[in-house]
Amino acid sequence: MAGKVRTTYRCTECGADHSKWQGKCDACAAWNTLVEEIVAPPASKRSERRTNGSAGFADGGAVLPTPRLREIVGTESHRFRTDLAEFDFVLGGGVVPGSMVLVGGEPGIGKSTILLQVAARLEAAGHRALYVSGEESPLQVKLRADRLGGGSLDVALLGETNLETILATAHERRPAVMMVDSIQTVYTGDLEGAPGNVGQVRECAARLMRFAKESGTAVFVVGHVTKGGGIAGPKTLEHIVDTVLYFEGEQSLDYRVLRATKNRFGSADEIGVFRMTTEGLIPVENPSALFLGDRADGTSSGSAVTALIEGSRPVLLEIQALAAKAGYGTPQRVCTGFDGRRLALLLAVLDKRAGLSFAQLDVFLNVVGGVQAGEPAADLAVAAALASSVYDRALPRDAVFVGELGLGGEIRPVSQVERRLAEAAKMGMRSAYVATRGQPRKAPKGLTVVGVADLTAMMRELFR
Ligand SMILES: Nc1ncnc2c1ncn2[C@@H]1O[C@H](COP(=O)(O)OP(=O)(O)OP(=O)(O)O)[C@@H](O)[C@H]1O
Ligand SMILES: [Mg+2]
Repeated sequence: MAGKVRTTYRCTECGADHSKWQGKCDACAAWNTLVEEIVAPPASKRSERRTNGSAGFADGGAVLPTPRLREIVGTESHRFRTDLAEFDFVLGGGVVPGSMVLVGGEPGIGKSTILLQVAARLEAAGHRALYVSGEESPLQVKLRADRLGGGSLDVALLGETNLETILATAHERRPAVMMVDSIQTVYTGDLEGAPGNVGQVRECAARLMRFAKESGTAVFVVGHVTKGGGIAGPKTLEHIVDTVLYFEGEQSLDYRVLRATKNRFGSADEIGVFRMTTEGLIPVENPSALFLGDRADGTSSGSAVTALIEGSRPVLLEIQALAAKAGYGTPQRVCTGFDGRRLALLLAVLDKRAGLSFAQLDVFLNVVGGVQAGEPAADLAVAAALASSVYDRALPRDAVFVGELGLGGEIRPVSQVERRLAEAAKMGMRSAYVATRGQPRKAPKGLTVVGVADLTAMMRELFR
């Protein structure tokens, strides 16, 4: 006989179970680590022992067949194309049936917008879509659909937050794709905690995942992030889902960058760039052109261009640096789109190896477009922009900088330099500063490649 579903409060630090919620874990004395969880009843049928004569080990456990991988039949199911080119691209070529995708991002960045657009496109292509909104009223969603047009009004809507009801409805309707906006508003009656708490979010996500795998419905869930990347936000969910899409970018700007930070069905770190308009998010075909589009006339100091590989394609980005006299107390270091510790390291290298002291200077660094420049290949551009700002001398407007800076001031080669330089040449760059050892065998047409061995050599080239 199957037992009853029971809940427990498990410590996320040490894993100890408690019968009721309390602030402090009895076992490891950690605070605020207890999370409500369902303890599933033992599956009675399965636990009936199939002995196979192997007495002793298989106590209560079922013995299952273990086929070789080549004996497993089936091919990857056909992906659904949304025809939002950049969206399909970020997913690795379209929506995979039965997959679960988490879409995260700051409030108001466009999560609901893109999912409604995707639902509308798929509905128009004959794949039934179900949009579950627990966050906004049906009327609010309808008003957005009015604005977006393009078939959004044909999408079926379910205004519900109870997971059991959502799953029952979905089982009945059998949509090809289901959007759940958002996972933080959905709750299961099996747990006592309020919607949005860690236990609820985890349990609801796990059950939606199971539904996706069993039914073949592709499930998209919106996940909120709190200011500090809050625990009930995407971070907890990332392990459960197949794909994580994250909106980067400044909300004040009209373009948005969607990045696949995890993808079980395609390459990770792929980015798609969109422009936010009244009709929704419109894919931008040439991100490099967009990011370099608003550059100043080339007379101001502190701006350098780099070529990074985002996922599978090269993108040119402008890095801006401003080093200004510190007004008061400890000088500030402010970064947007770049790692603060990496900046501290580069400042130290510039100080030690090129004699540029930032001890009395505030430093501001900005990657234009709100993109995260996470690759070390951006080091050289950051160093060049910083030096340019300190000397107040503009860098050549049509130069691109690609290289990693070592602690000794040496410039290291980076991967796929040919593809980066080809993109730079395509965007009208005329010179490229790269590591001496990493020079391409053949420079793209119209681009002069300058090999620089170390920081001192680059400074000499740029500011002699
Ligand atoms: N009439 C409009 N014209 C152009 N853009 C609009 C218009 N109305 C809303 N927007 C854009 O849509 C954004 C809101 O998008 P959306 O509701 O999809 O965001 P979200 O990520 O779902 O936010 P939340 O986390 O609050 O649910 C606004 O920040 C704004 O930029
Ligand atoms: Mg929303």
